[in-house]
Amino acid sequence: MHILITGGCGFIASNFVHYLLERYDYRIINLDALTYAGNPENLREFENNPRYKFIHGRIEDVKAVKKALRGVDRIVHFAAESHVDRSITNAQPFIQTNVAGTQVLLDACRQAKIDRFIHVSTDEVYGSLGDKDRFTETTPLAPNSPYAASKAASDLLVRATAKTHGLPSIITRCSNNYGPYQFPEKLIPLMITNALEDKPLPVYGDGLNVRDWIHVTDHCAALDTVLHRGIVGETYNIGGESERKNIDVVKTILRLLEKSESLITFVDDRPGHDRRYAMDIKKIKRQLKWSPAVTFEKGLELTIDWYRRNEKWWRRVKSGRYRQYYQKMYGQRLAEGKKP
Ligand code: NAD
Ligand code: DAU
Repeated sequence: MHILITGGCGFIASNFVHYLLERYDYRIINLDALTYAGNPENLREFENNPRYKFIHGRIEDVKAVKKALRGVDRIVHFAAESHVDRSITNAQPFIQTNVAGTQVLLDACRQAKIDRFIHVSTDEVYGSLGDKDRFTETTPLAPNSPYAASKAASDLLVRATAKTHGLPSIITRCSNNYGPYQFPEKLIPLMITNALEDKPLPVYGDGLNVRDWIHVTDHCAALDTVLHRGIVGETYNIGGESERKNIDVVKTILRLLEKSESLITFVDDRPGHDRRYAMDIKKIKRQLKWSPAVTFEKGLELTIDWYRRNEKWWRRVKSGRYRQYYQKMYGQRLAEGKKP
């Protein structure tokens, strides 16, 4: 099988490329624009692998997409602008990539008559929950951030292309991932690397927002299942069944690293900050017999261990442009932050 992965140099997709190349004899084509989040180092070991090909290009570029689709049977579409905070500062790149780019891919896949389009989406399209309930696949879409709105738009474009033109597609919606190669703008790698550097850990608002964490290898296993056994036209929720308050996640990281809780700094909240996400994953369990296997405690230990062993990787990522980003995003907030 020939599989096109979009955004393969990012966090989840690079883990998925590792996952596929280690388990199958498929040919993988990776189309990636190498934005700030795309890191070729994540896939360096496959550079000379005859079953792996990298194409540097944007998903909005019709020519690049057509080239990447040559001979492809299935596509797993990850490429996206993925960070909520950046979408609050500037929504334009999110519309460009997540919405316009997805439509270019859909049109090209239709013309190429590919036999499966797997669209990797997120629980954030459902909005925010109160204390009870969970998101099911039929929960109405109610995105609250520009990022979530752009992902919801892309989900609807996939749905429309499937209904109108018969493109054989499947949508997956996953909860918060963590694990190796995650860019340290997201909560867990930011907190791990800041703690390793003895820098303050910026916790938004009261720290009581809840996320449903999944180790990235569990997400990869779920996507593997959907790729091979998913039913065309369906949407599947994927989650780790590990709800945690942000402050508890941060305290656990500090405990595992044997660092002081005095590093915690409460800072001004994210505007429109969703309070709670929680996934109901009964459908994928029942229909496809997939369940998460990594507990949050085990996954966090493995992740901390990875960041400890790969200091060169994250120190390089946290240099250069990242410093300006960090200063802009956190400089003022940390200066005005409060200790617990
Ligand atoms: P990421 O930000 O780490 O990586 C995104 C990748 O896409 C990068 O390699 C980047 O270079 C590439 N890219 C960006 N714009 C592109 C464009 N126009 N053309 C080609 N490539 C482009 O992302 P991630 O956190 O690994 O998320 C991957 C996908 O999974 C996204 O679609 C995201 O919405 C979804 N998702 C993420 C999470 C999570 O917790 N991170 C959870 C659920 C769903
Ligand atoms: O739920 C799936 C989504 O998870 C994905 O679709 C997104 O691509 C991914 O970025 C993630 O979104 P979140 O906004 O939930 O993740 P983030 O890591 O940015 O934040 C997790 C929680 O931690 C959230 O409640 C905000 C909080 N937070 C985050 C950062 C970066 C802090 O308290 N401090 C921080 O510095």
